[in-house]
Amino acid sequence: MIGFIYKKIVKPILFKFPADDVHHFFLKTGNFFGRNKFTRNFLSSILLYKNQILEQKILGINFSNPLGLAAGFDYDADLIDILPSISFGYHTVGTVTNLPYEGNPRPMLGRLPKSKSLLVNKGFKSNGLSSVLSKINKKNGGIPLGISIGATNMPYKNIEGMIEDICTSFEKVIKEGNFDYYELNISCPNLINIENLKDKFDEPLGFGMLLNKLSYLNINKPLFIKMYLEKSESETISLCDVAVDYKWVKGFIFANLVKDRKNKVFDKEEIESAGKGNFSGKPTEELSNNLVSEVYKKYRDRFVVVGCGGIFNGKDAYEKIKRGASLVQMVTGMVYEGPSVISRINKELAILIKNDGHKNISEAIGAYYK
Ligand SMILES: Cc1cc2nc3c(=O)[nH]c(=O)nc-3n(C[C@H](O)[C@H](O)[C@H](O)COP(=O)(O)O)c2cc1C
Repeated sequence: MIGFIYKKIVKPILFKFPADDVHHFFLKTGNFFGRNKFTRNFLSSILLYKNQILEQKILGINFSNPLGLAAGFDYDADLIDILPSISFGYHTVGTVTNLPYEGNPRPMLGRLPKSKSLLVNKGFKSNGLSSVLSKINKKNGGIPLGISIGATNMPYKNIEGMIEDICTSFEKVIKEGNFDYYELNISCPNLINIENLKDKFDEPLGFGMLLNKLSYLNINKPLFIKMYLEKSESETISLCDVAVDYKWVKGFIFANLVKDRKNKVFDKEEIESAGKGNFSGKPTEELSNNLVSEVYKKYRDRFVVVGCGGIFNGKDAYEKIKRGASLVQMVTGMVYEGPSVISRINKELAILIKNDGHKNISEAIGAYYK
């Protein structure tokens, strides 16, 4: 019912306004609702879904369900108090960078409804890490909370400068201590910060330099690395191989945005008229699923695989889980289907898992390859 109202009444109105403004409106409304006990309880009463079949303990963290908010939606930590009420199982804030960056010139967001995709051209808009951390002085959200860290979007003379910026951010978040896990975002396409660099994180040498420097810090919480979507399976495996020896790298998230406008999922007219940026949603799904499978099959328990890209319903999420994802994340499905889609996906997942004869989600992970 709520999903129906969102799609038939709320969304058509919201989609008349520029996507940047609607995103801002969502964040501020969510923040207001989260600060108010009445609205939190009201939303919980209609949108909170719990089922033991979805509960797991992964890397010491209790997840009430496997579906998290991916990086990019709540980049300024506005939604910490409200997301548990709408059935998210965990929540990544960010990507946040050490120094503030006001973002690229507007429009930073756009819609491709026929392609079930969003155009993203934010360039790591961030209020800067210190500002975000000052908002998180106590963790009262009640679901596992993570932060995604990326390199400040500015020109660097060499890769060492970029690594130093990332290490400074990690020093700050480790000291702050309120997060349950960290994400390291190396894969945002189209940032000016990688222009002119000889070594880059998308090659084993540059990636190894980054991990080497980070290993001098006491990374005391699970760290997941947000990976490139459009690398081949062998290129991806060669990066994962570099991470194997760094015990504090606990997993990978597959994956970030699509850059390639020839991706066959795009509606032709929509993609031809799209502005500058990269794309989320359905065009990411198949590539994401393939990478989940390949990395799960090769490394099994060494890395926790997180599937991200094109999840709109329980079946989409379950496909990633059966390919080897222990957790899944989403952004775009929520924008198109509305906030009630989170509890719906969890409900559908619980049914799919039960119908396959499993007692708990953990038995379904990687089911295709058992
Ligand atoms: C508006 C928007 C902003 C995003 N910003 C980030 C970001 O800052 N950091 C990041 O790691 N991924 C970012 N992403 C990518 C998403 O986290 C995700 O990998 C991608 O959108 C695929 O998932 P989806 O199809 O469920 O949206 C962004 C995506 C969207 C739609």
